Amino acid sequence: MNKKIGIGLLGLGTVGTGVVKILQSPQGRNPLVSQLELIKISVRNKEKHRKTTINSTNLTEDPFEVVNDPLVNVIVEVMGGLEPARSLILEAISLGKSVVTANKAVIARHGEEIAEAANKAGVYVLIEAAVGGGIPIIEPLKQSLGGNKIRKVSGIINGTTNYILSQMSKDGSAYKDVLSEAQKLGYAESDPAADVEGFDAADKISILSGLAFGGPINRSEVPTKGINNLETRDLDYASRLGYSIKLLAIAENLSHQNVTKNLYDPAHLAAWVEPTLVPTEHPLAGVNGVNNAILIEGDPIGEVMFYGPGAGSGPTASAVVADILNIAGIKTMSTKDEPLDPLLQAASWRECHLVDSTRISQKNYVRLITEDSPGVIGRIGNLFGDNKVSIQSIVQFDASADGAEIVVITHKVNKGAMECSLSKIRELKEVKSLGAHLGCL
Ligand code: NAP
Ligand code: HSE
Repeated sequence: MNKKIGIGLLGLGTVGTGVVKILQSPQGRNPLVSQLELIKISVRNKEKHRKTTINSTNLTEDPFEVVNDPLVNVIVEVMGGLEPARSLILEAISLGKSVVTANKAVIARHGEEIAEAANKAGVYVLIEAAVGGGIPIIEPLKQSLGGNKIRKVSGIINGTTNYILSQMSKDGSAYKDVLSEAQKLGYAESDPAADVEGFDAADKISILSGLAFGGPINRSEVPTKGINNLETRDLDYASRLGYSIKLLAIAENLSHQNVTKNLYDPAHLAAWVEPTLVPTEHPLAGVNGVNNAILIEGDPIGEVMFYGPGAGSGPTASAVVADILNIAGIKTMSTKDEPLDPLLQAASWRECHLVDSTRISQKNYVRLITEDSPGVIGRIGNLFGDNKVSIQSIVQFDASADGAEIVVITHKVNKGAMECSLSKIRELKEVKSLGAHLGCL
């Protein structure tokens, strides 16, 4: 079977270059790789120096030319951004071409529209590289874990911020220096605000929630806090208390205990992104550098963790090529139009709703800057107690002429009660400001 599959590449940056390197060296890889033929590549600027050897006649500055080329069977979108990426994906689908994309921003916002168009046209849109870089997580959720009722998906799903936090904790490096290193290494988004403000992780947890819980969620409703306001002293205090700080994305099915026999019951989910204290003995605490890890809790599997490089050229290209091979395998084997493989195509089977975020329950880390005077800790403790917030520990770290820093770790409490107690505590005359409020596992 030597049927060639024509590949059209939209983008030749960090990920696109990694894909080309794999396609140009098929030896030792799955034999299907040698059946993939790179037909055309679009870039923004043809004159730019490239890290890979490409015949310049294969390059174009018009991405629609790639999509419309009759020799191209599969479109690989690794250009990023919302437009023209969304329109190019829809155009490819309308021409009956399957699509592979690493673009979580476009899938988190327009995934439903794209999946509907793809299913109607009888083509695949595969997105393995959109979450977790090189870690296989999308297809495992769609296929290998399909027999489970998923209770919770949580993890570290942004490589740039994990790299920054790891370097800052390891050697106290300055935030800005580490961010610029992550950009040089090709981990960061073209606008790194998407990484450090948590939006990239929110895109990814929205995608994972849709797959894990059976239906899309509204991306704009995911409460999101990034690491951009995190202070080095919080990493230090956390470490002294036996925790690491990680940017976690969490999605939990709060309705699983009430699920009736009706498979199509809506799922009531809590989903959020937030810097979180993770006990040093927890498996996520040891995930450092650009690595990502995703913990899935389901019935009957229990807990399973997926771990590996969450960004970068080679790892992400590995995921992209896996998707191309899935499509190429089907194209090579089929002799006529066949129905889509239901496990590989995008599928929803119920509605998913996000609950009001005040219903989310978790432990908290709070740093207060206060006057260093008798009775302050007592008054803070009383206000937490009045609002039914139970304290696990309360410690004064620093006392100087400027005042004291009081760090509180609470037991699990709902966000509504927590916010209410913090607003009362802020009114105490001895409390100068709220230094930090983070989640805690
Ligand atoms: P990148 O390095 O910035 O590369 C983007 C490529 O697309 C460049 O070749 C650029 O052309 C081209 N391009 C951008 N806008 C274009 C337009 N309007 N018209 C034509 N060409 C255009 O980005 P990347 O890091 O490879 O990321 C690509 C996608 O993969 C994004 O969706 C990103 O979120 C996702 N992703 C990235 C990683 C990672 O580790 N980097 C991991 C997982 C997923 P020029 O080269 O001429 O500028
Ligand atoms: N900017 C993203 C990250 C790329 O750092 O995780 C991988 O999706």
